[in-house]
Amino acid sequence: MRIKLTFTILFFMSLISSCDRSYRSTSLTVEETMDAIVTRLYEDLLPEQLDTIGNSWIISQLDPEEKQALATKYLYFKVNTPVRVSLMRDQKQKDLPFWLESSGFALTDMVVRNAHSSYEVWQKDFETGLVELGINGFDKHRPVYFISVGALDPDRKLEITSVFPEGQHFERMAPGAFTYHDWDELTLEEVPDELVGQVLFTTIRGRAREAHLMGAFRTTPFPSGAEPDQIMLSWTGDPSTSMDIRWRCNSSVSEGRVKYWESGTEDTLLAVAKMDLMEDRLLQNDRYVYCFAAHLDQLRVGTSYSYRVGSEQGPWSATASFQTESEGDDNFSFIWFGDTHKSKHWGDLLLHAYEKFPDVAFYSIAGDLVSTGLHRDDWDQFIHVSGAVFQYKPLMPVPGNHDSQDGLGAWMYQDIFSLPENGPEELSPELSYSFRYKNALFLMIDVTSPIESQSRWIEEQLRSTDARWKFAMFHFPPYNFEEDYSGIRKEWGRLFDTYHLDMAMSGHTHYYMRSLPIYNEEVLEHHSQGTVYVISVGIPGNHKNMPEEEYAGARDGQGWLYQHMEIDGDRLIYKSLDIKGNLRDEFVIEK
Ligand SMILES: [Fe+2]
Ligand SMILES: [Fe+2]
Repeated sequence: MRIKLTFTILFFMSLISSCDRSYRSTSLTVEETMDAIVTRLYEDLLPEQLDTIGNSWIISQLDPEEKQALATKYLYFKVNTPVRVSLMRDQKQKDLPFWLESSGFALTDMVVRNAHSSYEVWQKDFETGLVELGINGFDKHRPVYFISVGALDPDRKLEITSVFPEGQHFERMAPGAFTYHDWDELTLEEVPDELVGQVLFTTIRGRAREAHLMGAFRTTPFPSGAEPDQIMLSWTGDPSTSMDIRWRCNSSVSEGRVKYWESGTEDTLLAVAKMDLMEDRLLQNDRYVYCFAAHLDQLRVGTSYSYRVGSEQGPWSATASFQTESEGDDNFSFIWFGDTHKSKHWGDLLLHAYEKFPDVAFYSIAGDLVSTGLHRDDWDQFIHVSGAVFQYKPLMPVPGNHDSQDGLGAWMYQDIFSLPENGPEELSPELSYSFRYKNALFLMIDVTSPIESQSRWIEEQLRSTDARWKFAMFHFPPYNFEEDYSGIRKEWGRLFDTYHLDMAMSGHTHYYMRSLPIYNEEVLEHHSQGTVYVISVGIPGNHKNMPEEEYAGARDGQGWLYQHMEIDGDRLIYKSLDIKGNLRDEFVIEK
């Protein structure tokens, strides 16, 4: 019966597509459509069936309005004159977007190339008015299609307005133009003369995920429940008088509170948490969770607090505790890691470090906390392997390239962590920020966001601070043997020189390197003259034959280290250690 019905629908749909050469308008968006389709798939299919669905079966399951939305609402805009739209589709993509031929696009014999892909060129002429285009496909084919547009009458000036998605960037179609914002070094090498000079619509490879259904579904080993979990501390404000606490619950819980009290006393205070629904549509066993975030302020300086999180409706967490920053001395320590990539190895290292150095004030990670930043199961794994450490000690991270995805940003990272919103105005909040702990300024910089747009903010931070110690943390290492980050060296190194940054902490290359003091890209003798640049990694490394780095004071290709830094007045005692507690590198800076 089901087969017959499917066949009838297919026959009917093919009639529609062959008769009706352009899809009619619909108010449904691609996102709404995909939400509804996924909901239906969860209702109709067993988990193991979700992994078997293919292109033609998916098309057979769409109702006419859904089909219209997916055929017209991915990219649309208005033109003031008749145009020819050229659509460049990667030849390696297996399934043709279902709407392409049926909406009147015809394959030409032209080819557009970059160093990575060859694109066939499809064309269609449109009248003045609305141009509507459909999804890239139900696969996750990352070299998504891109388009160029030219007026049919060469004497008419083409105006393109009302573009969806908003914020469209245009380039001139020609060799040398880039097409993907998240890989803008990938430029076109071959463009047919007919297309040169047209308006090129740039895009991001993340758009391949918008309609992803084939081989798309994931499972988290750590689904949410009514009981609060994933409790983590951080600071959005002053570490001496405030604390931020985040946790999650499943959707049966609709409010969150923190009960907290000075350890050893009975007087309980209450803070109400903000609540945000987080969706990972393709996480089949835990699509929605509630993220709770509470800000505790007016705390007493140098005081130990105990707390529990929960709600009137559900269970409460076990009691944990934290300490506010003390006054009157200039002594504290912290621990930081390079890339952690949600690894159990790193989790073990963290627990070891926590036991060995119970008095640290906080932890930091220099980016690549996870491997796929928009997969919530990655974050579940990351928090799981960290045990309960961050229930007791704040975590102040920076994002790496793996914490965002294909130009779609690091929104999951931003939703999970509560971090200061005092970064550069040009950036989305919490990605770059600064905080002060005792006599040290920490510049926490998102190096995956544009370098130049953050320089003014970095300079302001360094110029205006009266902190004795100045540290920066950002993911890409300006000094390493694998990738040339001359842009960072030139743009930020100059500021680090001018305002004497004591140390820059990075990751990304998965090996350990601690530089000698560097000023103006040259090694100098004394720490008072230059900045120490460190790369570390919190998971096993695999660098065996490392070319020489003349600026290096210490190196290690095997990785899996953590850094303990103690500031005692004018003295910094730096140690890098492994999971057995072996000291692998150390040095001291005396002011
Ligand atoms: Fe990494
Ligand atoms: Fe990285």
